[in-house]
Amino acid sequence: MSASNSSENPITPEAVDEAVTAALAAIAEAPDAAALKRVRSEHIGEGSTLAQLNSFMRHVPKEQKKEAGKLVGSARGRVNQAFAAREEALAAAEEAARIEAEAVDVTAAARRERNGARHPLTMLRDRVSDIFTGIGWDIVDGPELESEWYNFDSLNFDADHPARAMQDTFFVEPVERHMLLRTHTSPVQMRALLERGVPLYVLSPGRTFRTDELDATHTPVFMQFEGLAIDRDLTMAHLRGTLEHFAKSMFGEDAKIRLRNNYFPFTEPSAEMDIWHPLAKGGPRWIEWGGCGMVHPNVLRAAGVDPEEYQGFAFGMGIERTLMFRNDLTDMHDIVEGDIRFSEQFGMVI
Ligand code: PHE
Repeated sequence: MSASNSSENPITPEAVDEAVTAALAAIAEAPDAAALKRVRSEHIGEGSTLAQLNSFMRHVPKEQKKEAGKLVGSARGRVNQAFAAREEALAAAEEAARIEAEAVDVTAAARRERNGARHPLTMLRDRVSDIFTGIGWDIVDGPELESEWYNFDSLNFDADHPARAMQDTFFVEPVERHMLLRTHTSPVQMRALLERGVPLYVLSPGRTFRTDELDATHTPVFMQFEGLAIDRDLTMAHLRGTLEHFAKSMFGEDAKIRLRNNYFPFTEPSAEMDIWHPLAKGGPRWIEWGGCGMVHPNVLRAAGVDPEEYQGFAFGMGIERTLMFRNDLTDMHDIVEGDIRFSEQFGMVI
């Protein structure tokens, strides 16, 4: 393409046609927007045949200018039009593909994944907690790895009190640190008293540990809930009324409780509580449920509370035991083994 020799005018219908045909073919074949962009720089942009032909216009002899201008102009017009149309078509296709890919078939059947089931112990713990929050009590917790002081000393157990051995404790090494796995939830009594002061109405459900072998009715890791109320003028009648309300909430209007004399270092007087279970398998009967009593003045003193001014009651029950007689379970293994088929029977599949 020489600019000096006008007789070699390269703007011929053939040359233009060839460039247009090549450009149109490339445009038609571009599969996506990125490819189309490359086509643009190759066939329309600077350096393309059409652009070169166009820049040659200024060298075309005057008498040929009109013809050549028409040729190049209409060629560029056609290519630009084809380009714009293809650009639009590709954008529409990409949009359609995106919508298609994001489509959700709302009529498709849901796929049910069995993730597990809530454990009946957890459900029972929550139910007990609900009953007490329903009468205005707070739920509190304490550590499972507990100091001997909270678990025993603060609760009025003497240093050589047989109850310490009686409770078959897991002591944690080194023993000089006097740390243990709590044998009951009663240490939370003292923690709650020290942290919250009086008056106090709290329930502390939680895990507890004793060195029992796992068998049909025992497990070394089990759960208890401890109730504690401290206020002015609380009597055993309040304890009875609270337990009665709790028993009826759990086992129906026909449920009732009875207290039998017992001993715990941290309550005086102390009692064993039985529940009349109206729906027990094999007919209604009394079932041993837990311990209770009026908080011992020494426990209040250890927490800096004046026993002349404040009194209180406490009670504690085992959750596994409650679950067993409430649901007619006979083997502790079922409760601790974690087989989902067991939990599923309690109807809380998630
Ligand atoms: N902590 C006692 C136990 O584990 C139960 C109990 C709690 C007794 C509160 C009286 C008052 O056996």
